[in-house]
Amino acid sequence: MSAFNKLSLDAVQEEGFKPLRKTFSEGGNRNNVSAAAPGSFKFKDELADFYKYIDYREEIYVNRLREAVAIKSVSAWPDHRNEVIRMLEWTKDWTEKLGGKVELYENPCKVQQMDDGTTIPLPPIMLGSFGDDPKKKTVCVYGHLDVQPALLTDGWDTEPFELTEIDGKLFGRGSTDDKGPALSWLWMVEAFNELKMDLPVNIKMIYEGMEEYGSEGMFETVNELSKPGKFLANVDFFCISDNYWLGRNKPCLTYGLRGMAYFEVGVECSTKDLHSGVYGGSVHEAMTDLIKLMSTLTETDGTINVAGVMKDVAPVTEKEKESYETIDFDLANYAEEVGVTTIGEKRLRHNTKRDLLMARWRFPTLSLHGIEGAFSDPGAKTVIPRKVMGKFSLRLVPDQDPKQIAACVTKHLNDEFAKLGSPNKMWVKAHHGAKAWLSSTDHPNYTAAASAVEKVYGQKPDMTREGGSIPIATWLEDATQMNVLLLPVGACDDMAHSQNEKFDRKNMVAAIKVLGCYLHEVAKIRGPKPSDCRCEPLTMEDMMIPGAFARGFRCKCEI
Ligand code: BES
Ligand code: MN
Ligand code: MN
Repeated sequence: MSAFNKLSLDAVQEEGFKPLRKTFSEGGNRNNVSAAAPGSFKFKDELADFYKYIDYREEIYVNRLREAVAIKSVSAWPDHRNEVIRMLEWTKDWTEKLGGKVELYENPCKVQQMDDGTTIPLPPIMLGSFGDDPKKKTVCVYGHLDVQPALLTDGWDTEPFELTEIDGKLFGRGSTDDKGPALSWLWMVEAFNELKMDLPVNIKMIYEGMEEYGSEGMFETVNELSKPGKFLANVDFFCISDNYWLGRNKPCLTYGLRGMAYFEVGVECSTKDLHSGVYGGSVHEAMTDLIKLMSTLTETDGTINVAGVMKDVAPVTEKEKESYETIDFDLANYAEEVGVTTIGEKRLRHNTKRDLLMARWRFPTLSLHGIEGAFSDPGAKTVIPRKVMGKFSLRLVPDQDPKQIAACVTKHLNDEFAKLGSPNKMWVKAHHGAKAWLSSTDHPNYTAAASAVEKVYGQKPDMTREGGSIPIATWLEDATQMNVLLLPVGACDDMAHSQNEKFDRKNMVAAIKVLGCYLHEVAKIRGPKPSDCRCEPLTMEDMMIPGAFARGFRCKCEI
């Protein structure tokens, strides 16, 4: 442990830090290689001061995360919209305080249409930037400051909006999804500032407050801002830290996400709820129809019964099959973490690492989520609900198209409803949809991140895909033609969206380091700035030319 780490944390104060001098008390002078025994000398990491500074500030970062978690920025709670806006303002203030420029960009959709016909404002989108040096590369980071709903009564062990530390775990809604990671970019900039180190790249930030509710307005915003001369036009690399490691300890980089198609199927049988004793037997019940309909969607083993859904699923290649072999993933641990080991006989749907990961990452799935309008309280209420809406969604993979999936699902439900011969009213609504996203780990953006991960965590990252969705990854890549990297900093057991969401203290600290190191590595990439080039993307043949990728990114001008 360095002398720096041993400093009493009581001594840490917000404003009291003096930048370190660039000398080292251990390991000798970094230039004096001959002073060390042969083979034993290790060059100091160029960012050693930066890492020490971050270690020294640990407690401060925890307190700031505590402040952020206390802001109940739940995008799904209409009566908390001001809290979402307050969270964006809080982040704007910090960005400005750290020397960044910020615009709160009005959401192009302006308002959110509620079911009852009323509207509420959509929060603005924060556009921040640090530095504008034309000689430097520009990295744009995306993050979201809204969170999933959370109530103590959902089964949390601690107050969800009060950051609570137990055994090095920081429990709180949004701690890992995505406030902890999103704010780490700022604390990283602060460390560079305080140490009087020049930022290695220009940084842009695009932070939203409606991600957990479908990112309304973001597609339009990204397309508008990608036009020549606009905010995103000169971005060379994108980086998003909004997913998780595959395991608890081994870091990874993520190059694929599933897309999604969300649906509601509703059935209405009467204008009011009815007593089942008095009216039961005389009416066609909405709930009976709905349950039948929902049960036609999949088999119990998960097979999707909707005709046409599997048609466009990209075939599995040999190379892809091989890629699963080296991934560090333990089925038994996974079963334990998910919490299925103590319930039921057959534990998981798949018995091998590869089959299980493929089921999560590269095959579509259909999940039933809930039924609005159905009786769901404790006890035994004898009611016939008048109107019930089933919610379900599919996770999509390359090359499925959400629109085509919506057409298949609608046809399936209409056909199945016709078979029931029910006189009730039935409808299908397609909510948000997003295509799957797949990138290439050969890109210099990934190489830079991999070397940063290795430096900070001391091990090479696994290259993973994810079953979850971040629609903006595709939107950014499509609109700008620049590479998107997912750089997760949280662990697999962080439990985003669930009860007891947490961010490990040690991962929070390492996150700030790895993001800084990643920028440092990006700055070392040689070749033109990708955004300066307007060539057609490389073909597979072009990419075979030695060095084409590293020198020319996705363009032909350098080869
Ligand atoms: N951070 C998640 C996305 C995520 C989760 C990616 C787990 C990979 C693994 C994000 O905040 C999220 O929850 N996304 C939604 C998107 C939806 C609302 C379109 C999701 O995946 O359900
Ligand atoms: Mn997220
Ligand atoms: Mn989320």
